[in-house]
Amino acid sequence: MATLKFTVLAGDGIGPEVMESALEVLNKACGDAGDTLSYSAHDVGGIAIDNHGTALPESTLEACRQADAILFGSVGGPKWENLPPSQQPERAALLPLRKAFKLFANIRPGLLYPELADASPLKSERIPNGIDIVCIRELTGGIYFGEKKTWQNDDGEMQACDSMSYKVSEIERIAEVAGQTAMARGKKVCSIDKANVLETSVLWRKTVTEYFKKNFPEVQLSYMYVDNAAMQLARDPNQFDVFFTENMFGDILSDEMAVICGSLGMLCSASLGDIKNSLGNKFGLYEPAGGTAPDIAGKGIANPCAQILSGAMMLRYSFGRDDVASKIEKAVRDAVCSGVRTGDIAFGRTPVSTKEMTQAIIERL
Ligand code: IPM
Ligand code: MN
Repeated sequence: MATLKFTVLAGDGIGPEVMESALEVLNKACGDAGDTLSYSAHDVGGIAIDNHGTALPESTLEACRQADAILFGSVGGPKWENLPPSQQPERAALLPLRKAFKLFANIRPGLLYPELADASPLKSERIPNGIDIVCIRELTGGIYFGEKKTWQNDDGEMQACDSMSYKVSEIERIAEVAGQTAMARGKKVCSIDKANVLETSVLWRKTVTEYFKKNFPEVQLSYMYVDNAAMQLARDPNQFDVFFTENMFGDILSDEMAVICGSLGMLCSASLGDIKNSLGNKFGLYEPAGGTAPDIAGKGIANPCAQILSGAMMLRYSFGRDDVASKIEKAVRDAVCSGVRTGDIAFGRTPVSTKEMTQAIIERL
């Protein structure tokens, strides 16, 4: 019996719709387990620009500081696309949030149930048992947060520069997360870099090699250049078990992973750091991979699974409720595998609405 205290940042587009589903499922699953949810909702992203003039209002940040975790929806949309890039919801809300809470490790499970194999663009004979891999992306360093500038040269030509840099300590802490994740799975991990070209990658590879030798001698460590990794992921994703990489490479590879796993509507993520919450667990931000999907927003047809599964990850990492998390994951799987499907994963079946999908999951809890 405990009170689970988190901040709800539903954001824009389909965010509020799928968030409602996630909260219903969490309320039911946690209630059954004797826990109480205590959450407050705050504006973030485009809606926050409209209501407060900024994508990440101080009141929202403060609410996050008071909570044990953040359940995040998605931000952005056509309405705010004409703002200067630095004020747009994605850059002005999500990146500062990651930085403010030092959420340096982004964990994205790439899970495709065998029953959903037809949702993947890969031929089903390549993935007879579905896909089950984990992408770990460094999230607060590299080119995203390096020095940036745009200037005009003497000859009048414009030029811009983004710089990529990594410190050993930044590499070691993400290697630690990768090592721990590998220990809990197949004890196999692939570090992805571009050490044939980039200095940051040379340091990354050296640091990772030493770190694993010292701290995870049991884990089988391999390396791959990022261009080859992009190809291997499309050729035979299950050759990976856990892979980890720097911020920009991880951004790209995790989208590739998302598409081979069928639908963005199924993929959840956790962003974690070293900050402990009031329960002594990791403070984290949990969000679906799919974005705001403006084309279907407000229609009640979005797939709520990624948001619900992100909620399950929150229970696991920030609240230590492994059992309830597993129960939710199983209910989602049962619902989808028994043929209850939203449009993105329907493939010839009659698609259900967001609410029907949610009810089907709740019934199976
Ligand atoms: C992601 C997104 C973000 C990123 C954008 C919205 C800033 O693409 O979480 O992968 O690039 O990190
Ligand atoms: Mn991305």
